[in-house]
Amino acid sequence: MTNSIQKAIVLCLISMGISGLMAQTVNTVSEFKVEVQKTGATIQPTMYGAFFEDINFGADGGLYAELIKNRSFEFDNPFSGWTPFGHVTIQTKNPCFSRNPHYAELSYDKELTGTGLDNEGFRGVGVKKEEKYNLSFYARVMGKSPVKLRVNLVNYGNDFIEEKEIELNGQGWQKYTVVLMPASNCPHARLRITMIDRGIIDLDHVSLFPQKTFNNRPNGLRQDLAQALKDLHPGIFRFPGGCIVEGTNKATRYQWKNTVGPVENRPTNINRWNYTFPNKKFSDYYQSYGLGFYEFFQLSEDIGAEPLPVLNCGLSCQYENDDPNENCAVDKLQPYIDDALDLIEFANGPVSSKWGKIRSDMGHPAPFNLKFVAVGNEQWSKLYTERLEPFVKAIRARYPDIKIVGGAGPQAEGSDFEYLWPEMRRLKVDLVDEHFYRSPDWFLSNAKRYDSYDRQGPKVFAGEYACHPGNRENSFLTALCEAAFMTGFERNADVVNLCTYAPLFAHVDAWQWRPDLIWFDNISIVKTPNYYVQQLYGMNKGTNVLPLTMNNEAVTGQNGLYATAAVDKTTNDLIIKIANTGILNKKIRLDLVGLSEGKHQGKVTVLQSMDLEAKNTIAKPSAGEPVITDIELSAPVSEVTLKPFSFSVYRVRL
Ligand code: AHR
Repeated sequence: MTNSIQKAIVLCLISMGISGLMAQTVNTVSEFKVEVQKTGATIQPTMYGAFFEDINFGADGGLYAELIKNRSFEFDNPFSGWTPFGHVTIQTKNPCFSRNPHYAELSYDKELTGTGLDNEGFRGVGVKKEEKYNLSFYARVMGKSPVKLRVNLVNYGNDFIEEKEIELNGQGWQKYTVVLMPASNCPHARLRITMIDRGIIDLDHVSLFPQKTFNNRPNGLRQDLAQALKDLHPGIFRFPGGCIVEGTNKATRYQWKNTVGPVENRPTNINRWNYTFPNKKFSDYYQSYGLGFYEFFQLSEDIGAEPLPVLNCGLSCQYENDDPNENCAVDKLQPYIDDALDLIEFANGPVSSKWGKIRSDMGHPAPFNLKFVAVGNEQWSKLYTERLEPFVKAIRARYPDIKIVGGAGPQAEGSDFEYLWPEMRRLKVDLVDEHFYRSPDWFLSNAKRYDSYDRQGPKVFAGEYACHPGNRENSFLTALCEAAFMTGFERNADVVNLCTYAPLFAHVDAWQWRPDLIWFDNISIVKTPNYYVQQLYGMNKGTNVLPLTMNNEAVTGQNGLYATAAVDKTTNDLIIKIANTGILNKKIRLDLVGLSEGKHQGKVTVLQSMDLEAKNTIAKPSAGEPVITDIELSAPVSEVTLKPFSFSVYRVRL
């Protein structure tokens, strides 16, 4: 690399305020010793996971494949998402669904405007050419004669890209379905329903679903987004939040029992990310709960991850609400505790149990084999611990094998954190959930964070983390810092048992929070460099840590390098992960102690960019992607060259 390019990069790093990276400009040969026979701590199969929260239109408008917004007319503004024309009113008399009682009443008497409704979807209805979509709705005819409707998909230019007719002929509520097949792709279409015949009709739960969903599940998930999730190879799947678990107050908290059973009767709830950030106000952000706890468990099973539900501990969001009346009093917690116990029964109970039967009726008689439950998200102080305590007692008494996750609050250090860790030890929770959204420098200097953690007591669940640069954008820089930091998770697998990046999904036209792992619009998806780091760890976790040292010390930033090694006993592979945060090539002499002499074949996967600001976007989704090449490491000594600003994963046969 020429001096002028080096200088330009250093100046760029200075302007970004990244001293950790800037310092690493000296080209040296580093000597790593990997002790292949010294099998160390077990790396839990759950180690690298994924965390889902309905933020950034992650569920409705995202992972949940429903294309109609406000399908039940239950938003505070019941016409939100809908553009009525002609005579359309909202009614609640003799509703079709008791817990979602609003419906639209349409009357048509040959007015010039016609009568009907357009739905705008989630920043548009995203449809693909010649794919099939199931349109369904519940309707009743208020007169004696049948009423014909025309349904259209209308594109951005106001042209029809699909048209079907359907006749309504029953006076009571009935379900109607019709298959739509658009003639062209359109990420921003609208669904239009128009009355053809005179009359009065009532309409409710208007739903449009792609026939192709992930694993072809009914009421299913967007194929591309769920597949991206599966491709992370997550060992654990945490849901449904995040702050959404707390809600802003009692009424808006997440209540899992409202999210199971027939989708039409799951009561709509406002999403707290609707109004959390005044500069990012989304008045049309609600939760249909179509993606509810049954679907979360099913998804966990489908992607091969252990489910980890998070439950409300009886507190509202402590950031947003200090009204004590919005917290449940400690002596009134029983319904909340029952929710936890019933959830375990819902997931694992026999079909003969109350909640096991509900699971079975929904289509899954076999248990989901739930092993973990988290109580509380980002809660702190005695308010939290005095509520957590009775949960722990009750869950231990009924389900002693369930692992309980407590929390260390929203900060990675400081007084709340210092208070909570000893409390978690006292309460003997199994894991403690730590959260850190921190700067690139913090991530680099905290690669040693867990080296000095107490080996006794609860394990660590790094439940929410992401590298946040000043501009809070996903970039190659943040991915590299996360890759470097995560070597510390792996080296300390005896302490760190689970980790999940956050948040997972973001709609490019409707996000509240960034950076995020996966971006999408209505028909396409973008995997960030951060995604690839998570995926490389998920696919190459190994079964046991191996000692990897430089001058008898773990590699935690010397010469700008961060490294860890593992063995995968199931495949008999040696796995070495190295992040080079310096701007020069780095030569590494690998002393592979205990590896049989000769050549060992394998692959090296490298995520690299000289542009630390490199981003993957909808227009250019592959700006930063890993590249895989064949490699041969010779034992006992090999030499490899690491590219500048790179994360490399070597995987060779032992
Ligand atoms: O991941 C976004 C938010 O960050 C989560 O909801 C919350 O737990 C944390 O503050």
